[in-house]
Amino acid sequence: MMMMMRNTRVVTSFLFLIILASKSLSSSSSSASVHSTIINVVKLGAKPDGRTDSTEFFNAAWAAACSSRGPALIDVPKGKYLLKNVEFRGGSQYCKNTPRITFRIQGTLLAPSNNYNHLNNIKSENWISFKQVQGVSIIGGGTLDARGSALWACKAANKNCPQGATSLRITNSKDIVIEGLRSVNSQMFNIVINRCENVNIRGVMISAPGDSPNTDGIHVQQSTGVTISKTGIKTGDDCISIGPGTKNLWMQYIACGPGHGISIGSLGKGMDEEGVQNVTLRRAVFTGTQNGLRIKAWGRPSNGFVKGVLFQHAIMKNVKNPIVIDQNYCPHNYNCPNQESGIRISDVRYEDIRGTSATQVAVKFDCSKKKPCEGIRLKDVKLTYKARRAQSTCVNAAVSAPVEAYVRCD
Ligand SMILES: *[C@@H]1O[C@H](CO)[C@@H](O)[C@H](O)[C@H]1NC(C)=O
Repeated sequence: MMMMMRNTRVVTSFLFLIILASKSLSSSSSSASVHSTIINVVKLGAKPDGRTDSTEFFNAAWAAACSSRGPALIDVPKGKYLLKNVEFRGGSQYCKNTPRITFRIQGTLLAPSNNYNHLNNIKSENWISFKQVQGVSIIGGGTLDARGSALWACKAANKNCPQGATSLRITNSKDIVIEGLRSVNSQMFNIVINRCENVNIRGVMISAPGDSPNTDGIHVQQSTGVTISKTGIKTGDDCISIGPGTKNLWMQYIACGPGHGISIGSLGKGMDEEGVQNVTLRRAVFTGTQNGLRIKAWGRPSNGFVKGVLFQHAIMKNVKNPIVIDQNYCPHNYNCPNQESGIRISDVRYEDIRGTSATQVAVKFDCSKKKPCEGIRLKDVKLTYKARRAQSTCVNAAVSAPVEAYVRCD
């Protein structure tokens, strides 16, 4: 909420529209589907008092849903539920009848106390995890509150802290919907989509302080057909990060900030990596972020690639690096000094990108000598710095822009 007030009125109203949209979406989809089994976690024994550990009742609800002969609904009514690490598994071995399962979360799920050790003692890198599921929807407008502040403070004090847990991770799964969910105060990443197919994330709100470490909003990797729409992300790291093996990713109506922007990468840390292809972002607003649209690769030899990217209709508000390709990522100059990135970046289009840069160089293409960027196209890129035309720097990059372009590469 504190973060909300810091934002400009425009973004707030944009987010308000998102909330309205997600409300109407969730009511329509929940009334449209028919569930043969309805399981209420409170009836099973969960206590919505925010203090009593409800983990076993959530696991029991999953087991009950898995025995359903038709689609099942797990109902989490309003209230606060204390929940430790949970892993919901699909596949006939773990989920007998493998029905479609809808989690309707209207309440708030709370991670165990504001003590990061609780989640870490169990040595899980996740708080709530879904594995090998198909046809799972998480709806209802409820909240995941991982209570990460103690861990952030520990990390800020440079103590010997555990890494922390991802709030919601979906792995090896198919046909997933996450709608109207709120994720707040994550310890590490908020939502991770790994090795999935056909995932629809819409009307989601993610919020963590702008200085909370590694609290990426949504991370996608090794996945095909992920859609993220009408989603507002305020965080201390990337709003959306896109890892190797991402294909056919669609992002639309995204509000980002505070945060580090939307980033393809880091790529090329390993030698063999699947490429990233066919990524679209349409209609996004970046407010006070460190980056806007970024592609980032380690300065290390690797056989990965990025191709077929369209960034269209983005508004930058006081963004430090609105457009950036950085193929020389080598933090602390460790393990990669003087090496060239082997990631091949081609066919990246920037169309209708407007607004203000917080630094003089608003467009920065720093590509690899070994694999220069190819087919970079700028159209209607109009970025200003202190009410003047912003600058660009382009190294090892073949960039085309119309002659009359406001920002060009020459
Ligand atoms: C690119 O991805 C979109 C979804 O984001 C999909 O509709 C489209 O068919 C894909 N294009 C190709 C050539 O695969």
